[in-house]
Amino acid sequence: MIRKKNNWRVPKGAELTELDKRVLYYQNEGHLVPTRGLIKTPEQIEGIRKSGLLNTAVLDLVAEKIHAGMCTAEIDKLVYDFTVAHGGVPACLGYEGFPKSVCTSVNEVVCHGIPSEEEVLEEGDIVNVDCTTILDGYYADASRMFVIGRTTPQKQKLVDVAKECLEIGREAAQPFSFVGDIGHAIEKHAKKNGFSVVRDLCGHGVGLEFHEEPDVVHYGKKGTGMLLVPGMVFTIEPMINMGTWEVFIDEEDGWTVVTEDELPSAQWEHTFVMTENGLEILTY
Ligand code: MF3
Ligand code: CO
Ligand code: CO
Repeated sequence: MIRKKNNWRVPKGAELTELDKRVLYYQNEGHLVPTRGLIKTPEQIEGIRKSGLLNTAVLDLVAEKIHAGMCTAEIDKLVYDFTVAHGGVPACLGYEGFPKSVCTSVNEVVCHGIPSEEEVLEEGDIVNVDCTTILDGYYADASRMFVIGRTTPQKQKLVDVAKECLEIGREAAQPFSFVGDIGHAIEKHAKKNGFSVVRDLCGHGVGLEFHEEPDVVHYGKKGTGMLLVPGMVFTIEPMINMGTWEVFIDEEDGWTVVTEDELPSAQWEHTFVMTENGLEILTY
């Protein structure tokens, strides 16, 4: 027997709003719909937006300072000092035991790279810096790629296509479309360019906590996965690989995610709010 999840509940005796009717229609059709708790209030969205502004300022600072010869621990220090000086808290620091304030993922590292004194950036490296800020209790999460000097045409293409995948995913996400529409569009674009999409890690709801529902997978079928309703806040953060999509986690540190074939990987991430007109970026 198929059990339907009745996520969308209307308080007893309450009059159905237009939104209730619309979401209940999809729920009755058998689609996965959000709980009411995933629909942020305007006040909450403004809180996440403010956190996003600080998070963007942190990444802008990294963009200004990053250079060949710098170690990734210096990036971590920049992020920590700037965030704290502006009243924020780096969400990564201590999150499930993560030891640093930001993730720095170089070349074949897909994500969750740990900044280190030993890791020195070199000409031609491609580096993802993934930063999440907590401000007044609200979370904003974004990452960018940085190319150190000039890199190979193929690595540059990977960086560019990964960015296009984020934009294409954003366009695919319309009010009352589905998470699967985002994944389908991203996977299509990556494959067309000869690249693969990481399947073991995904985007996520965000805002009141670091990782909320839904899982925003970056592959899949149109019309599947959770319904996207105005007021939902979530990330899209496709990890695009030059070779195989398969990855492993470094056993020594328990965090660093690396491509199985050790070919390069690239990722861009933004936090978005779903509006009546599509996704608005909260981490610009
Ligand atoms: N910022 C990452 C994300 O996009 C999560 C990093 S968790 C950490 O979801 F513990 F590694 F920092
Ligand atoms: Co992130
Ligand atoms: Co994220």
